[in-house]
Amino acid sequence: MYSLIRKAIFSLDAENAHDLTVNLLKLTGNSPLKHLVRAALACPQGTEKTVMGIKFKNPIGLAAGADKNAEAIDGFGAMGFGFIEVGTVTPLAQEGNPKPRQFRLPEAEGIINRNGFNNNGIDYLIENVKKAKYDGVIGINIGKNKVTPIEKGKDDYIYCLNKAYNYAGYITVNISSPNTPDLRQLQYGDALDDLLQSIKARQKILADQYNKYVPIAVKIAPDLTESELVQIADTLRRHRIDGVIATNTTISRDTVAGLKNAQEIGGLSGKPLQQKSTEIIARLYQELKDEVPIIGSGGIDGVQNAQEKINAGAQLLQVYSGLICHGPGLVKALVSAIK
Ligand SMILES: Cc1cc2nc3c(=O)[nH]c(=O)nc-3n(C[C@H](O)[C@H](O)[C@H](O)COP(=O)(O)O)c2cc1C
Repeated sequence: MYSLIRKAIFSLDAENAHDLTVNLLKLTGNSPLKHLVRAALACPQGTEKTVMGIKFKNPIGLAAGADKNAEAIDGFGAMGFGFIEVGTVTPLAQEGNPKPRQFRLPEAEGIINRNGFNNNGIDYLIENVKKAKYDGVIGINIGKNKVTPIEKGKDDYIYCLNKAYNYAGYITVNISSPNTPDLRQLQYGDALDDLLQSIKARQKILADQYNKYVPIAVKIAPDLTESELVQIADTLRRHRIDGVIATNTTISRDTVAGLKNAQEIGGLSGKPLQQKSTEIIARLYQELKDEVPIIGSGGIDGVQNAQEKINAGAQLLQVYSGLICHGPGLVKALVSAIK
């Protein structure tokens, strides 16, 4: 069934197909159809897992970028996800990069995107999160506006943290998108130290204000050298960051060289990223053990490679590109099989 739908979806431009899907899910999520979808895709019970101090009904989540404005939480939720990460959201609405900015690499089951945090701003997203009826965990992924100079990037994260804190199950600090100029600089040395120190200080103030602790995860790139990775792990541990998402998309083209669209600028996701992200998880786990839980993301498209990420040290998993290639049945398959 999904192969027919995929044929139709793949006949459209990649971003139009995505927008259409989100709009359909928005409609489904607001209608009784949601119950039909949920029944058809019902996930097994007994898959709960507590990570970062939060109880997840199952360890399979939707990765950031699929529902940037939190418009289709209930539609995605009906697919059986244990958690849904919305965003990346920035303080102000912004258009993102010029279109086309999303490209399929069908032979490799990959996607390249250079969207550049197109979103309607944090106030719009929060209103949508408030309306959602989804009973799983909602993560809110925050970033900086393109117009904000990188030296002031911290202010954007604190702004979004303040707005999101009371409505999020957890908050992700995204410093690893390749599509916002200089953003990845925040992953290194003093810039990371300074950012995480401010974020943790603000988390403490907000925890007192709202009388609840909302965990904070940091999302990292796969394009890191050994010493950079070790240094990031050390910084996350020192600042007692609650979780790390590994990984975002890659700027490497090693696994897709010569394929159509491979030269497009942006972040590569899907199967061509699968092995690299698993290697990063394994290396990160050597450093962090269970001190900072790892959420694995990158090319998950089946039970075997999902289990490889768990075996490498991930406690939770997120999918995005695999969902496009394999359809919503992937969620149920993963939830049923992952141990
Ligand atoms: C079209 C597209 C848009 C994305 N947008 C975001 C985003 O806004 N924020 C973010 O943290 N990650 C974003 N990602 C990265 C995904 O969340 C995920 O980490 C990455 O694609 C690897 O997982 P996958 O191979 O299952 O897609 C995006 C990915 C794609 C394909």
